[in-house]
Amino acid sequence: MKIIAINGSPRKGWNCDKLLHSWVEGIKSVYQEADIEIVNLYDLTFTGCRSCFACKLKGGRFFGTCPINDGIHDLLADIRHANAVAIAAPIYFGDINAYTKCLLERMIFSVMTYGNPPRNMIENPVAFTMLYTMNAPEDYVVDHNYLSRCDEMETTIGWAYKCNVERVTAYNTYQFTDYSKYESEYFDEADKRHYRDTHFSLDLKAAFDNGANCVRKLLKA
Ligand SMILES: Cc1cc2nc3c(=O)[nH]c(=O)nc-3n(C[C@H](O)[C@H](O)[C@H](O)COP(=O)(O)O)c2cc1C
Repeated sequence: MKIIAINGSPRKGWNCDKLLHSWVEGIKSVYQEADIEIVNLYDLTFTGCRSCFACKLKGGRFFGTCPINDGIHDLLADIRHANAVAIAAPIYFGDINAYTKCLLERMIFSVMTYGNPPRNMIENPVAFTMLYTMNAPEDYVVDHNYLSRCDEMETTIGWAYKCNVERVTAYNTYQFTDYSKYESEYFDEADKRHYRDTHFSLDLKAAFDNGANCVRKLLKA
């Protein structure tokens, strides 16, 4: 069973990375033998889609695949043949951060056609979980439908990879090791710390449970 866990944050060991590793632990708790590849996206050099359309060229050698031979070339092939993929992304300006979006552009666009009706060229379904971390508190996110762009992206991923994308979120994240060193008076550091100390473990548990359930479903299928 091939599992890919991708940290879309530039920060190793921070919120996204922790959530992702908890998801991985959930996988292992059910199926120790899973072949798990952990990827730090910011270690790779790549661009978003270049709109070359080689993936849609009839009879072309790259039809249904991305021809760009850069840092995510092999990762894209691995994702396509994986059983499950988790991507942890920080929310930047109310959306999935740009670097992760670059991966998603390439990952989605290359496997879909402009046929009528459009079709995807994925051989087998890939189970996807998106894990998001953000500074905004949960009530703000809910009241403002703050993750609507993530909803749309998940719908597209689900269509392209033939799955129902699952989601785990961590709100109100702690951003600095020492708030006193940064101009950050807009936030109440004590409140942020309290929230982290009381809630983040629940978010980690949700990620763990999602990973465990993901494998259980795959083993049953
Ligand atoms: C460039 C930038 C833009 C951000 N924009 C938002 C935002 O629009 N909404 C939000 O809730 N948090 C925003 N954040 C905060 C991050 O989403 C949050 O700290 C996240 O947990 C970071 O993940 P990490 O700790 O894994 O790096 C932003 C952070 C950065 C660096």
